[in-house]
Amino acid sequence: MKKLQNKHIVLAISGGIAAYKSADLARRLQDAGASVRVIMTESAQEFVTPLTFQALSGNPVVTAGSAANGMAHIELARWADLVLVAPATADFIARLIHGRADDLVAALCLATGAPVAVAPAMNRQMWENPATRTNIQLLDQRGIQRFGPAQGSQACGETGYGRMLEPQELVEQCATLFDSGRLQGVSILITAGPTQEPIDPVRVITNLSSGKMGYAVARAALDAGAKVTLVSGSTCLTPPERVKTVRVQTAQQMFDAVHERLDDTQIFIGIAAVSDYRVEEPAQSKLKKSADTLEIKLVKNPDILASVAARNPRPFCVGFAAETDHLEDYARKKLEQKRLDMIAANLVGGETGGIGTDDNALLLLTPHSKVELPRAAKSQLARQLIEHMANHYFEQKNPA
Ligand code: C5P
Repeated sequence: MKKLQNKHIVLAISGGIAAYKSADLARRLQDAGASVRVIMTESAQEFVTPLTFQALSGNPVVTAGSAANGMAHIELARWADLVLVAPATADFIARLIHGRADDLVAALCLATGAPVAVAPAMNRQMWENPATRTNIQLLDQRGIQRFGPAQGSQACGETGYGRMLEPQELVEQCATLFDSGRLQGVSILITAGPTQEPIDPVRVITNLSSGKMGYAVARAALDAGAKVTLVSGSTCLTPPERVKTVRVQTAQQMFDAVHERLDDTQIFIGIAAVSDYRVEEPAQSKLKKSADTLEIKLVKNPDILASVAARNPRPFCVGFAAETDHLEDYARKKLEQKRLDMIAANLVGGETGGIGTDDNALLLLTPHSKVELPRAAKSQLARQLIEHMANHYFEQKNPA
């Protein structure tokens, strides 16, 4: 199979002389099996015309001028499995780091849930400038993939770091983002997001989970070749196109949606923040304000993860533990009590954030091991988690 078979790659072009190489890059990405759609900044069009890329990619190119459909960049952001900015100029990288959305390419990078990779291309002095060095450090910390630059002779006549990687090298680098392929054909069921427990027709009990970690893990599993089903509570996130998504509201609905799909599940990952309790009898009509106090009787919800782990046969089970303190102790207790194969624990609350943030740090525990994944973007952590999980899954399935 070709390295990038069926991958949706948005090739984003910012305004540098290396843009001429991006025509060849578009071609080679397609030769490797990818579907390519192109978006260009205004200044990129000073170097190469959109027509070139339209002819090469077979798709209309998105530019500010082409934006008959004002949401074209948002559609691309959702369509993408990867956004590759090549070339990425010093100016573009600075704008990316500051979260600017003042051109379509920067806005697309902000709006996408897909991994973003940049291929820097600039003059040697610009690359070495302290401002660029700081921006590049921030890129790396945020888990934005960086391909290159290479060393060599430059269009400006100088020699040094700053040359964009050659198109074929960029294709290889893109392929490594997807190539773990380790979970090819493995069916993974993931729960994500918060549940909502009705109090009356207009009020619910819920929590602050954004679903970002669950959606990032779904995408990482997909990129590793798995068949992914996501059972999701209410979130504002858009799942990747190729993930089968089942939307639910309550813990009981999540429980039912999960149990209906277990026969075909080899790995179950519980990331949802499930409400431990629900209202015993939600009111049929909106509760009116009257007495100074109001008592609502809550009853316990089923523990979805523990119920899956208790089945025989059962899938490989991975849980999450969000704790405000005693992280390792509490997480290990959960691993044992729920009889899990692996648990990913993170600190929440206070300075540490965790809930709703874009980055996180995780402690991965199995019955016999412990790995710390330092703070990084959730997308990057999700890929590391999937890698570790795949190791344990295959070790358990095929013991040495
Ligand atoms: O016990 P606690 O809620 O801290 O456990 C968290 C883990 O258990 C998460 O993986 C969560 O998705 C799962 N869970 C569940 N059903 C519940 C409560 C938690 O699947 N009712």
